[in-house]
Amino acid sequence: MSHNGSDIAAPAIAIAYHSRFGHTATLADAVAAGAREAGAAVTMLPVDQMTDADWDVLDGADGIIFGSATYMGNLSAGFQAFAEKTGRRCANGDWRDKVAAGFTNSGAKSGDKLNTLVSMAVFATQHHMHWVSLGLGPGWNSSGSSDSDLNRLGFWLGAGAQTDVDANPDQVHPSDVQTFRHLGWRVAIVTRQLKVGRSVTPAASSPAVSSAAR
Ligand SMILES: Cc1cc2nc3c(=O)[nH]c(=O)nc-3n(C[C@H](O)[C@H](O)[C@H](O)COP(=O)(O)O)c2cc1C
Repeated sequence: MSHNGSDIAAPAIAIAYHSRFGHTATLADAVAAGAREAGAAVTMLPVDQMTDADWDVLDGADGIIFGSATYMGNLSAGFQAFAEKTGRRCANGDWRDKVAAGFTNSGAKSGDKLNTLVSMAVFATQHHMHWVSLGLGPGWNSSGSSDSDLNRLGFWLGAGAQTDVDANPDQVHPSDVQTFRHLGWRVAIVTRQLKVGRSVTPAASSPAVSSAAR
């Protein structure tokens, strides 16, 4: 067995997102591009159009990157409807130990969208998934910086973008595109590292046991 991962299959990453007006969908494409750049096999899943085959893709994925527009300071109703459909999988632990991460986009610069990322992280950890942070320092936070910096809006928990409410889907901010690309790249790398690690060390937390029972 190789320990450098060369014989390990490419990580399978699903991007499960909700977008009503196309802004978050464009950014989901940037996340996908970054993950593919890092060698992942990526499937895009708009969560308001899920088929049985799409659920199979999620169940088989090594990692799932969640995306939602911010509506009313939280996950969109479309994303939340999807989240509630995962109740049985959550109870069964079907997604336990998959990698997870998240991104969101809003009309206002802040727009309360941190709350959307928090909701996503809670959702992922209810599934016992491993949440991956954005992994970038904050941009646009000093006199010498600008809104073309990576992570211009200064998020840590996931990727956050701002798109003018009257913009076309292809008018998302170039810095946000690069930031979201970074998130996809980082998740793919972390997922690959976990896959390689698991090939030499069995998963520590499957089946589910409480610490008291160990
Ligand atoms: C019902 C509704 C609620 C919204 N709530 C917020 C909000 O809380 N904060 C914000 O900054 N923008 C808010 N927006 C603006 C959207 O986040 C923004 O238009 C976003 O780019 C839409 O993404 P989408 O094209 O992927 O649907 C809201 C838009 C709608 C339609």
